[in-house]
Amino acid sequence: MLHNLHPQPADKILMLMAEYRADPRSDKIDLGVGVYKDATGNTPVMRAVKEAERRILADQTTKAYTGLAGDPAFGTAIRDLVLGDSVAADRVACVATPGGTGAIRQALELIRMATPEATIWLSNPTWPNHPSIIKYLGMKMAEYRYFDNATRGVDFDGLMADLDALKAGDVVLLHGCCHNPTGANLTSDQMAQVIALMQDRGAVPFVDIAYQGFGDGLEADAQITRQIAAAFDNCLIAASCSKNFGIYRERTGALMAIAKDADQQALAQQNLAFLNRQNYSFPPDHGARVVTTILTDPALRAEWEAELEETRLSMLGLRQQLADELKRLTNSDRFDFLAHHRGMFSRLGATPEQVAAMRADNGIYMVGDSRFNVAGLNAQSVPVLAQAIVTAGI
Ligand code: LMR
Repeated sequence: MLHNLHPQPADKILMLMAEYRADPRSDKIDLGVGVYKDATGNTPVMRAVKEAERRILADQTTKAYTGLAGDPAFGTAIRDLVLGDSVAADRVACVATPGGTGAIRQALELIRMATPEATIWLSNPTWPNHPSIIKYLGMKMAEYRYFDNATRGVDFDGLMADLDALKAGDVVLLHGCCHNPTGANLTSDQMAQVIALMQDRGAVPFVDIAYQGFGDGLEADAQITRQIAAAFDNCLIAASCSKNFGIYRERTGALMAIAKDADQQALAQQNLAFLNRQNYSFPPDHGARVVTTILTDPALRAEWEAELEETRLSMLGLRQQLADELKRLTNSDRFDFLAHHRGMFSRLGATPEQVAAMRADNGIYMVGDSRFNVAGLNAQSVPVLAQAIVTAGI
């Protein structure tokens, strides 16, 4: 049987992780996979997470199954965190999933069950796992222009022109904040225009929000998602807790399906639970329990928010330092976009050859499309990167 298998395409982000590990140079710089690192290069367990885990260890009396949707308290906590009061609670179906990827996979399967002919529209570029899963599921996809390589901002005219071809029932995948891989984001006014176009065509929004708290702050980063959620009868939202709680390996996320009314919510909830059962039965609980413990305890929540804010500000500081350094080296403001981008990533707009040269000559690892992880930098490596960018002729 197994001889019938064919090698599968490697994920370029994960491949880069392996190449970085294999590089013997001691001064190499990892700007690849999206994992937060502090100034010493460590990915810390957040203080509130440690405390929540201590409490869970002390107080937990059973490891019996939760429910197919996960612990309902997690569903409520994550719904409030992401959606606030933008949508009536009885319209939101929600299940815990193994990370944000699990939520994306379940959302796509739900779309396939409900509207198998729908085309899923993806920004060009987007997180590579989006098209990979869609292709694997045999669903239709199309791209809308997103990044303007000249300005390193959003190509809004291109985006609107491409989405003009939307058909009723098509699904548009939008990044809730901190666009991955570019770091360039739509303004609220631009999103209002996208929403109007989608409403006109009868398209359905699917929001991937994986970096809430990494851009402009917890509430500000939820604003676009809430704006979208409030505007449609139906909307899917995949939320990840991997980054903002720093619990990557615990695989903690949620899929929310916003329904037209409470009856439709019950139907969606039942279908989501069914999908969980088919794919992995009960979703992982530990990370979800940590998140619930933090979000429902005011003191712990304040501790978490403070540390998340430190994380966010440190990334903003690195962005500014890099933009300033490049301004000094090039005597121009053409790298100011780095300070305007938000989230963990920026796309430099370099060619694959320039990216390869920085890797070969300086041991700087970024994804081939010139996405780099800002959090992989520190005060010492920023000038090294800036010089490498200039030397590579970017
Ligand atoms: C990334 O984009 O680097 C992260 O979301 C990690 C991943 O799984 O690709």
